[in-house]
Amino acid sequence: MTNPKLLQIDKDEARLGMFVHGFGKQWLRSPFAVTQFKLSSAAELKALRESTVTTLVIDLSKGIGPTGSAAGLPRPSETPMPANVEGAFAKPTGMVRSIFTKAASSLSIDRQQVEAVVDVVDQLMYTRPASVLNLTRLRTKDEISFQHSVAVCALVGLFARHLKLDGNLVRILSVGGLLHDIGKIRIPTEILTKTDKLTADEMTVMQTHPREGYAMLARTEGLPEIVGKMCLHHHEKLDGTGYPDGLKDGEIGAAARIVAICDVFDALTSIRPYKKGFTPQAAAEMMATWSGHFDRVLLKQFFDCMGLNWPGESALHITEEMAGIADLNDF
Ligand SMILES: [Fe+2]
Repeated sequence: MTNPKLLQIDKDEARLGMFVHGFGKQWLRSPFAVTQFKLSSAAELKALRESTVTTLVIDLSKGIGPTGSAAGLPRPSETPMPANVEGAFAKPTGMVRSIFTKAASSLSIDRQQVEAVVDVVDQLMYTRPASVLNLTRLRTKDEISFQHSVAVCALVGLFARHLKLDGNLVRILSVGGLLHDIGKIRIPTEILTKTDKLTADEMTVMQTHPREGYAMLARTEGLPEIVGKMCLHHHEKLDGTGYPDGLKDGEIGAAARIVAICDVFDALTSIRPYKKGFTPQAAAEMMATWSGHFDRVLLKQFFDCMGLNWPGESALHITEEMAGIADLNDF
């Protein structure tokens, strides 16, 4: 380690008052959504010690070292979170269910509820990200859309922070991640929950959800336009083969490109009643081969954010099953 201010320690040596500089490639194992922060609460210390991270790097110029004193450190106020991981995730999922259900009858969005969910997801991502980003969680058929919305909200927020975007913009993008699929409430349940491949007619109906969502968001007072665009364009592809408008390259905004990556990554890595989930690295390898779909620069950044390797050509091992995933209804 060339920087004399940086010191690698075992996680058992971690103490309140240390400034965590990073976890290296162990990021996915980290219980925290951010990699640089001061350890300032017993909850954070407990989460670190209970994680599978083995080492961390601390910055001695910003916090105490292994021999320093942690006395007198302020402790941030925290809303108690359920101890059970599934329980923690259930809270925002239930809130999203309520937003979607209300929107189905009023055809507009309860902004206050949306802000409340983003707060809960935000807090969970700081204290218990594994409860949100548990990439192998089984999604139950009835809850898929709600759980997916929460996960995409979290991923977009995480990615936006990694891109060092302004805090206000991170928040707006998180809202966009949460609401990108809101139009699905207008899709008949039998199509939405069909596990077999959709017929051409059913696919046409399914592909109306970005416009349906956009119309709903446009009726919601005070929502930034960027949120609507994330919803409208999250299925567009850079080569013009996406929907609903077949936009190309620069016609697709950065926010829509970001949510497109997070949307597909979550769909690929989650387990559903009708498909297994891919590992994050397998999902990354698949996404990297879909030339023309994603913004390659952002995709590379996303992999960095998630601690995943950019697959070299020789490293790609796309199985028949992986190649066939493009037929799934999610895309
Ligand atoms: Fe969608």
